[in-house]
Amino acid sequence: MQQIVIRRPDDWHLHLRDGAMLQGVLPETTRHFARAIIMPNLVPPVVTARDAAAYRDRILAALPEGAAFEPLMTLYLTEGTDPADVAAAAGSGLVKAVKLYPAGATTNSHSGVRDLGAVMPVLEKMAEIGLPLCTHGEVTDPQVDIFDREAVFIDTVLAPLRRRLPELRVVMEHITTAEGAAYAAEAGPNLGATITTHHLIINRNHILVGGIKPHYYCLPVAKREHHRLALRRAATSGLPCYFLGTDSAPHVDALKEHACGCAGCFTATNTLPLLAHVFEEEGALDRLEGFASLHGPAFYRLPANDTTLRLVKRDEAHRFPDKIFTEAGPVTVFDPGFPVHWHVEA
Ligand code: DOR
Ligand code: ZN
Repeated sequence: MQQIVIRRPDDWHLHLRDGAMLQGVLPETTRHFARAIIMPNLVPPVVTARDAAAYRDRILAALPEGAAFEPLMTLYLTEGTDPADVAAAAGSGLVKAVKLYPAGATTNSHSGVRDLGAVMPVLEKMAEIGLPLCTHGEVTDPQVDIFDREAVFIDTVLAPLRRRLPELRVVMEHITTAEGAAYAAEAGPNLGATITTHHLIINRNHILVGGIKPHYYCLPVAKREHHRLALRRAATSGLPCYFLGTDSAPHVDALKEHACGCAGCFTATNTLPLLAHVFEEEGALDRLEGFASLHGPAFYRLPANDTTLRLVKRDEAHRFPDKIFTEAGPVTVFDPGFPVHWHVEA
């Protein structure tokens, strides 16, 4: 029997939604994770400090009995965002980051940013106070192929922004390309990059070969195999700029298995066994703790968790549910397509 003990992990990019969905999916995260950066793309979005405080209260009210879990709140950046409101929300400790969605880039992003110039006063304030900007790093120009949107964002939006505001602390969320991984590696201490569980496991063939697989569709969409391999090298490199952000993004099956299916993979349930499997395959189990439990808190200037979690490899495969049944409807759990022998214990 093989086992490893790691500090309790955190999820630096998570969608919890609201209402019945929140109630249904929250236990899937609190079972293993101590904290998570909570994405603000609700309908309507979490724009102001007041919205974030109310959402935080709803999350805390939905916590399973006895769960020790801290939601780390974010604000959804709009062209109407008030720099003073952001600064006050950060100063009080309520808000840990601001999320940039280019308008139209993904789920509930229509209130996002069309003109980065319009939000410069907010970004300047964030640079001054050290509040991280989490970026959905894809351009939305219809001329740009969907598989190129991340690389083009880096060249045309992220790099110029960081040249203009080098003190701005930025997280490249859910990187999916070799270009994204390479940019992060060279960028210095003001930049971090989250990597999802699913982008370490699937490439675009998984979505499209042998029939369309809506549960593998997410944004940024999974790319070619060489990008997946680059992400694996990045996640297991031990470099502190890379940390876990699952982007676990639940949608009910009816909206995934649909003529215009929603983007998102739901990985909260089985992320840790899957990561142990991936890190073992890469010969890097000793680096799992850094990726899942240490690099994220270091970037966010928070202490690592002081409790631990044990992962054990057994002969019998891990059996996770195909679906989580929420009051909003069933949500399919990400299927890696291979047996996983790692189990979380205590
Ligand atoms: O796949 C995704 N789902 N990517 C995102 O950027 C948003 C997320 C969601 O909210 O469903
Ligand atoms: Zn997301």
